[in-house]
Amino acid sequence: MKALKPIILACSLAALPALAFAQVSVSVDTTKPGPVINKNVYGQFAEHLGTGIYEGMWVGPDSRIPNTRGWRNDVVGALKELKVPLVRWPGGCFADEYHWRDGIGARNKRPVKVNTHWGGVAEDNAVGTHEFFDLVELLGTDAYVNGNLGSGTPQEMAEWLEYMTSDTKSSLAELRRKNGRKEPYKVAYFGIGNEAWGCGGNMKPEYYAHLYNHYATFLKTPPGARPKIVASGGNDNDTKWTEVLSREAARGTDGISYHYYTLPTGVWDKKGAATGFPESEWFSTIQQTLRIDQQIKQNIAVLDKNDPQKKIGFYVDEWGTWYDVEPGTNPGFLFQRNTIRDAVVAALNFNIFHEYAERVRMTNIAQMVNVLQAMIITDKDKMLLTPTYHAYKMYIPFQDATKLPVAVDNDVAYSSNGKAVPGISATAARGKDGKVYVALVNTHPTRASDVALNVAGLNVGSVSGQVLTAEKMDAHNTFEQPQAVKPAAFSAKAVDGKLTIKVPAKAVMVFAVEA
Ligand code: AHR
Repeated sequence: MKALKPIILACSLAALPALAFAQVSVSVDTTKPGPVINKNVYGQFAEHLGTGIYEGMWVGPDSRIPNTRGWRNDVVGALKELKVPLVRWPGGCFADEYHWRDGIGARNKRPVKVNTHWGGVAEDNAVGTHEFFDLVELLGTDAYVNGNLGSGTPQEMAEWLEYMTSDTKSSLAELRRKNGRKEPYKVAYFGIGNEAWGCGGNMKPEYYAHLYNHYATFLKTPPGARPKIVASGGNDNDTKWTEVLSREAARGTDGISYHYYTLPTGVWDKKGAATGFPESEWFSTIQQTLRIDQQIKQNIAVLDKNDPQKKIGFYVDEWGTWYDVEPGTNPGFLFQRNTIRDAVVAALNFNIFHEYAERVRMTNIAQMVNVLQAMIITDKDKMLLTPTYHAYKMYIPFQDATKLPVAVDNDVAYSSNGKAVPGISATAARGKDGKVYVALVNTHPTRASDVALNVAGLNVGSVSGQVLTAEKMDAHNTFEQPQAVKPAAFSAKAVDGKLTIKVPAKAVMVFAVEA
């Protein structure tokens, strides 16, 4: 995403929504294709947390809610439409307390534990390895399994990978067969621990790097079945973990992870509400989320120094909005509503990830259902799609597309209290179908923008696609009004060789460009 030469107006822009501003110009260059935007940038995350898995997705085969072997049909159907490329499981913080043997064999004989991280509720291990891979196969997605480094052993981790991937006659492979799965599972990615600086063991990066190398040594698979191995890295405002891991834990490592959450206030004790927030918190949320750009840039600079051959990816394997929990809900369940603001945040992040496509080869929004910035919210047998779901669906053409350079000129900044963020964010790519796709985000909550689109290397005749917007800053879908926020069709034609697009306030637009 590039926003060049923003014009910062001294007056309050919010107070003057009807003013006609200079036209913003978005220029795409189809003659200089960039890197491929890895489809795994659109990855998801499902943790044993609150109703993210139990209730939200897994209801068990005996439930009256229609399901396939325990996975609810409505949720699986909606997620399939998102073309989810990758799902990370079982955590998060939960991963470093998870012992995989608890989750295999007859479900009624599995041990019941307490989910000490998330709400102190009973974890009956109904969803274990076989159930997770059943979901993966129902969704037609890839698996990113996160191993337990914090409270497990190298042996336990190695044996889990063997159990999942071995095609031999080993006792573990035979146990998998006895438990109903003849063929090995495909583990696309395997993470060694999570947030080792915090819930994963409160370690220093040097100590974790030693442990990482130790554990990684014993991860063995049949030829061709080795997952991409992920080292668990740093978070907010930190390059130290990337620095140490890219130096000391680089051998055989496919990616170093990074976590970045968007808090409206930037303060964990009082993050800000998901709905009913003032415009100042719309602005600060946009500002906070855009900080990830700088953080990715700084970490990539470290990788470029230590890994000039660009073998190691930078995986933002947890990101998204994190608000104060919804009043009256279990604080350990991290349930929050999801509004048009979340869709704008998601799209801004996509545009940034595209800019760094060469290194940012995977991201996983937290989380898929009912937790934090979710795609789907459920209540018993009801389900609704959030504005974030719609943003993900609109951006499907960018999965595995080839990034194209894009420049934003004459942008009118969105200003508040002497601070400014870009008004328009843009990204462009050539999709796998050969078409040029452009996405525009208007960060301003009340001001529409006129955007003149120029595409070098293509004689633009028209554009068509979808626009997602809403009247109120906290517009969201409810079970009573599940379609309150949804995309609408949009198209525009060039007049005298010029194509102008009216971008509504607080909007996400994705369209294909036609000659
Ligand atoms: O996504 C919720 C939690 O946030 C994850 O379990 C943890 O890794 C992070 O702190």
